[in-house]
Amino acid sequence: MIPLLSKEANIYISEDLKEDIGKLISTFPKDKIFVLTDEGSHKHCLPKIFPVAGISEDNVLVIPQGDKNKNIETLQKVWHFLSHSGADRKSLLINLGGGMPCDLGGFAASTFKRGIQFINVPTTLLAQVDASIGGKTGVNFEGFKNEIGVFNQASAVLIDTSFFDTLDTPNIVSGYAEMIKHALIYSKEAWDKLTDFDIYSFEKEELKSLVANSIMIKNHFVQNDPTEQFLRKALNFGHTFGHAFESFAMHEGKPVLHGYAVAYGMICELYLSHLRLGFKMADVIEISNMLKRIFGIMPITSDDYEELLRLMTHDKKNEDNRINFTLLEDIGEMQVNINASESEVIAAFEFYRDLCENC
Ligand code: GLY
Repeated sequence: MIPLLSKEANIYISEDLKEDIGKLISTFPKDKIFVLTDEGSHKHCLPKIFPVAGISEDNVLVIPQGDKNKNIETLQKVWHFLSHSGADRKSLLINLGGGMPCDLGGFAASTFKRGIQFINVPTTLLAQVDASIGGKTGVNFEGFKNEIGVFNQASAVLIDTSFFDTLDTPNIVSGYAEMIKHALIYSKEAWDKLTDFDIYSFEKEELKSLVANSIMIKNHFVQNDPTEQFLRKALNFGHTFGHAFESFAMHEGKPVLHGYAVAYGMICELYLSHLRLGFKMADVIEISNMLKRIFGIMPITSDDYEELLRLMTHDKKNEDNRINFTLLEDIGEMQVNINASESEVIAAFEFYRDLCENC
C-alpha cells in the first residue's frame, strides 16, 4: 500500500519500492516503459527497484552524472535512445535519480513526440523535497542554469526515503537547505520543527516525517500557482543569490552542491529582507549563524561582486531588467517581486563576507 501525500500531484510515499513501483506503473496506459538514470543511481539505486515486471533492462538508459551534464548533448542522447528503441506517444519514462535526471528526463519526455508521460522516482533528499515536485523541467545552457525548459507536471512522483542510505553526508545536507527554505517561507511552526533537528545526526523516522512536511509545503505553492505567475515565486527565496553563487563556483572550477549555494543565497537574502522589509536583524544573525554552522561559507572577495551581479542580472526570474527577489518580512511571511538596488545587493555580499573569517 502506498500512502498518498497529494492527490492532485499524485505524490506517493513508498514503504516497499519494488512492489509499489510495479503497482504504480500498472495504473498507466502504456506500451513500453523506459528508465532514465545516471551512473551513480544506476549503480546504487536501480537494484532497489529491479527487476520490475514490464520493464526490460534494454530500456534503461544511463547518462553521465552531475549538473555539468545537464545539457543539450545529454538531452539529445535521451531523445536518440527513445527514438531508436521504439518509444511512441503512449510510452512512459521513469526518471530515477537526483534533480539532474528528473529535470532532464522530464524535459526529454515533455518534448519527445510532443510529450510522453513521465514518473519521477527521486533518490536524493534535494530531489525528493524539491526538484521532482512541481513540473520544472529543463537543461542548463551556455553557462546558465535551467535556461531551457518547460513546466510540465510528472504523472506521478514516488518517494522512498530509504534511498538516503545511498547518499553521502554533503548530499543529505544539500537537500536540507531546501527544507530550511520551505520552513522559512511557510510558517513559524514549520521552522520550529527544523530548529530542533540535527541533519548531521538524525533519526530516520524523524527525517521522513520532516520530508513529508516539506513536500506538502512545496506542493501548496505549486498547486496554487503551477507556472510561477506569483505565489510560487516564494520558492525562489535564497535562489537569486544562490544561483549566482552556484554558477560562479562552477565557472571557477570549484562547484558547490545546489543546496549549499542556496544556503549562501539565503544568508544574503535574509540580510536584504532586513534592508527592504524590516526582517528583524536579530533573526537575520541567528539564522545566518545556523546556516553557517550547517553549510560553512563559500569564500568570495570584493573582486567577485561584479561577476556575481552579472550572473544575478541574467537570472530568468527577473522582469523588466530588474533583479527580482523573494524576501521575508518575518518567518512565514514572504513577499515576492521585491527589487533591490545594486548598493543593497553589495551590502548583502558584505554581510555574507563578514560571516567568513578568512574571505
Ligand atoms: N525550486 C523552485 C520551484 O520549483 O519553484
